[in-house]
Amino acid sequence: MNRLISPSILSADFNDLGKDIIMLNQSEADWIHFDVMDGVFVPNISFGLPVIQHVKKIATKPLDVHLMIINPDPFIKPFRDSGADILTVHYEVCNHLHRTIGAIRKEGMKTGVCLNPHTPVHLLEDIINELDLVLLMSVNPGFGGQKFIQNTYQKVVKLKNLIIEKKANTLIEIDGGVNFETGKLLFEAGADALVAGSFVFGSKDPMKTIKHLKKV
Ligand code: DX5
Ligand code: ZN
Repeated sequence: MNRLISPSILSADFNDLGKDIIMLNQSEADWIHFDVMDGVFVPNISFGLPVIQHVKKIATKPLDVHLMIINPDPFIKPFRDSGADILTVHYEVCNHLHRTIGAIRKEGMKTGVCLNPHTPVHLLEDIINELDLVLLMSVNPGFGGQKFIQNTYQKVVKLKNLIIEKKANTLIEIDGGVNFETGKLLFEAGADALVAGSFVFGSKDPMKTIKHLKKV
């Protein structure tokens, strides 16, 4: 079982993003999570390609890019060219998910699919073996600092069972409302990676919070 931490820069200090990225470089964070929002798929707009291009210049950790956008296909290569290492698209917006996942892999990125809280795990049973990662939303996407949805624990167990049944090598990542308490239960349920935004960047000592989150 992995215990990976992927801090979300959605809650970072955009007045001095470089400082926060250097902090993450020096921390025990495994990846850096980017919540890209288009204001259509989710009721919020965050940031896009230029932020990733600039962070890539100084980041020493893989860039874990979460696309909360209605039409990801035309942006696969631009995100690769901007420095994305993992590219995660939402199940809910892909009419041809198998083709989209193939296109992400062809660009040399790790493939990820994200499920909203209402989207059941079994919908992935015919594509799970193509996926490096499944991201489960434990809040309704669009904003940091929301309340954790308790059903997520059961969803992690169901997803883990599907991965085992299909002999897939897929990692389980959770996004939203992660803290020491939910993080501990999520790792125990079988999660491999935790996204944490407000809990990390809102803490007095983010490096210490990341270190502790890895060991909960
Ligand atoms: C929601 C975002 C958030 C963010 C983490 O669309 O994806 O889940 O990454 O938010 P926190 O950790 O602040 O709940
Ligand atoms: Zn995210």
